[in-house]
Amino acid sequence: MKQAKLILDRDYRIGEIDPRLYGSFLEHLGRAIYGGIWEPGHPTADEEGFRTDVIEMVKRLQLPVVRYPGGNFVSGFNWEDSVGPDRPKRLDLAWKTTEPNEVGLHEFCSWCQKAGTSPMYAVNLGTRGPENARDIVEYCNHPGGTLYSDRRIANGKKEPLDIRLWCLGNEMDGPWQMGHKEAHEYGRTAAEAAKLMKGVDPGIELVVCGSSGYGMSTFGAWEWEVLNECYDRVDYISLHSYWSNAAGDSPSFLANTVGMEDFIRSVIAVCDAVRGRKHAKKKINLSFDEWNVWYHSREQDREVWKRDKWGRALPLLEDVYNFEDALLCGGVLTAFMRHADRVKIACMAQLVNVIAPIMTRPSGACWAQTTYWPLLHASRFGRGQSLLPLLDSPKYECGQWGSVDILETAAVLDEKGGVNLFCLNRGDEDCLLEADLRSFGAMHILEHILLHHDDPKAVNTAENPMNVAPQAGPGGKADGGRISVMLPGMSWSVIRLAG
Ligand code: AHR
Repeated sequence: MKQAKLILDRDYRIGEIDPRLYGSFLEHLGRAIYGGIWEPGHPTADEEGFRTDVIEMVKRLQLPVVRYPGGNFVSGFNWEDSVGPDRPKRLDLAWKTTEPNEVGLHEFCSWCQKAGTSPMYAVNLGTRGPENARDIVEYCNHPGGTLYSDRRIANGKKEPLDIRLWCLGNEMDGPWQMGHKEAHEYGRTAAEAAKLMKGVDPGIELVVCGSSGYGMSTFGAWEWEVLNECYDRVDYISLHSYWSNAAGDSPSFLANTVGMEDFIRSVIAVCDAVRGRKHAKKKINLSFDEWNVWYHSREQDREVWKRDKWGRALPLLEDVYNFEDALLCGGVLTAFMRHADRVKIACMAQLVNVIAPIMTRPSGACWAQTTYWPLLHASRFGRGQSLLPLLDSPKYECGQWGSVDILETAAVLDEKGGVNLFCLNRGDEDCLLEADLRSFGAMHILEHILLHHDDPKAVNTAENPMNVAPQAGPGGKADGGRISVMLPGMSWSVIRLAG
């Protein structure tokens, strides 16, 4: 058995956790919208056609924001097609499908209300530009008396849709992106779009596109040039990461948080370098608005496109997640908590059917994939002050990252004065964690929630939806401010402590 030590002190704080760290993402892609959140005729569909069984599962996640409508999709999208009575069918060049525009802006905002969340809306800065970005803010947020706000009212929504958080395009450094741009070109476009959008509604917040990945040749220089153009006008810069275990190297796969934290630190460094150069007071924070495991469905997608190019709601990116994928997601969520001072928004990509924690069958059931659980735990118990975890963990060696801690931890002081400890044990042996909560006085263990399965490749299906699901963990001992808990090999734990 391994042993690890952790020190927590109520005065060693990383910062207040922005609840938007537990966001998600819905793109017009595959069966995310059509057959995912929306399926008129389904036994649980409401009067608008939204599946209420899916809404119930989303509500349990308590998501503060859902990014929409893309993704790559947005870079060729005309938002006007998605409002009012005339909804043209269009080719979506990003995902080689036909977009029916049956669900659009009003429907999505209504779904958000029903699901207890709020929209994070991406504008098209690929094939369109600042003028069009201005128009949609006017349509959504201006009370009335102008072309676009009156059009919203005519379309049935008297009160503004009041969208507070906006993305300035998507992955604009990616050569695959419709309207792909050079850094300087995008930086200028983003600055002008931001000026016009905030001109209409100065209270909105804007996320500018960072590089679409840490591994991009544009990374770093892109952030520098873009921010040099628009620093004063934007609030956040985006980061995207997808992880894969296609190589079958689970120790390296589970340690991907090492590279992810390098990515976060590097983006902070560039933001602050631009800040220094500009003698700026304000800080640009980070929006990690696409993250997940993505590799299981790649081959299947090629087959789908061979069979049915330009089909509607094709079954694309339907990754079936296993238990080790859930462990990685748990580790990623702890990393967000440890960087809560600068990472303010994060979106698990995506939410339903498309690389998603929730799956649906047409006319049938919906169920939670393995990855649903760590997101639910972090969202429910990861709000408050992020405490600095001083961790002394045993290590393992792995091919990609060298020597890494077998444990990943984060600790959150909640508003009731309780401490919630999040622990990933990515090693295959049990590990006894001894936590010294020196300044908290006597604490006791309220609950130990454990996600564990003997088979790292175990999955949930419609027939066996609770194969990988949380259970009560072994708990441990509390002796004054000292807590010891057994963390089984390959497990994710939430340990809830109270005074
Ligand atoms: O989430 C799937 C795709 O991944 C998004 O459309 C794009 O932004 C990213 O490359």
